[in-house]
Amino acid sequence: MSTLTLKGLTKHYSKTDKALTDVNLSIQSGEVVGLIGPSGAGKSTLIRCINRLTEPTSGEVLFKKTDLTQLPKSQLKQARREIGMIFQEYALIERLTVMENVLSGRLGYVPFWRSFLRKYQGHDIQNAYALLDRVGLYQHANKRADALSGGQRQRVGIARALAQQPSLLLIDEPTAALDPKTARQIMRLITEVCYEHQLPAIINIHDVNLATQFVDRIIGLKAGEVVFDGTPNELDECALTTIYGEEDWNATTNEADQISGLELEFA
Ligand SMILES: Nc1ncnc2c1ncn2[C@@H]1O[C@H](COP(=O)(O)OP(=O)(O)OP(=O)(O)O)[C@@H](O)[C@H]1O
Ligand SMILES: [Mg+2]
Repeated sequence: MSTLTLKGLTKHYSKTDKALTDVNLSIQSGEVVGLIGPSGAGKSTLIRCINRLTEPTSGEVLFKKTDLTQLPKSQLKQARREIGMIFQEYALIERLTVMENVLSGRLGYVPFWRSFLRKYQGHDIQNAYALLDRVGLYQHANKRADALSGGQRQRVGIARALAQQPSLLLIDEPTAALDPKTARQIMRLITEVCYEHQLPAIINIHDVNLATQFVDRIIGLKAGEVVFDGTPNELDECALTTIYGEEDWNATTNEADQISGLELEFA
């Protein structure tokens, strides 16, 4: 069953900034998609248009059969509860603990006064501990967010998004600020939890090698248009050239292999 369908999704910031043009795609439940493309191709705009952090210019965003573009603000808020977001820059609340950051994923669900007093239900706390355990941070529950490493911070971001009990995850460059080994661990964690929860996800990612290792479907954007949609195996040199333009792809792949080799040596 399709969880998300984009029909003719278009975002023109201005006459010259045509970030997205007529994007059509469907994401099935449990499907994890890697969204690749050169800088400025519209990857962030695409995921931000889905939950209307950026308002689309035209087109439909059908999420569980409801067109989010037509919802008034109050109903949009309800729908956003079900869409977890994970960002490159983590977006944690620095002075709060790891546990409090994860619980903040429940904010859309608890009454305002409870969240203000930071009073959460026992089952929310139990669930947050279980999620922290899953992302390998159980021991760090009471640490302040600003005391964590980049990889640990991204794990908090993942646990917080899952605490929302979402039906869809939107993830923007989750590994861009991380070293190659940590980046792989984070991609593995994200894809594993998606499969465990049968949770569909769109992951914007610059690193093509990393994307092809972990996702089953790749969508390539170029200048705001979908120019590739297929499996990692189908993403050959010709497809890469369509997406990114002329480049020595063998050199890029060899370089990536060398980096992986180095990592293994020092792991
Ligand atoms: N708020 C904005 N106002 C005007 N133009 C914008 C705005 N945000 C993005 N753009 C433009 O839209 C296009 C797509 O930007 P977007 O950030 O979606 O690209 P991206 O694929 O995520 O790039 P990157 O890989 O560098 O993150 C770019 O030309 C960008 O300059
Ligand atoms: Mg971006």
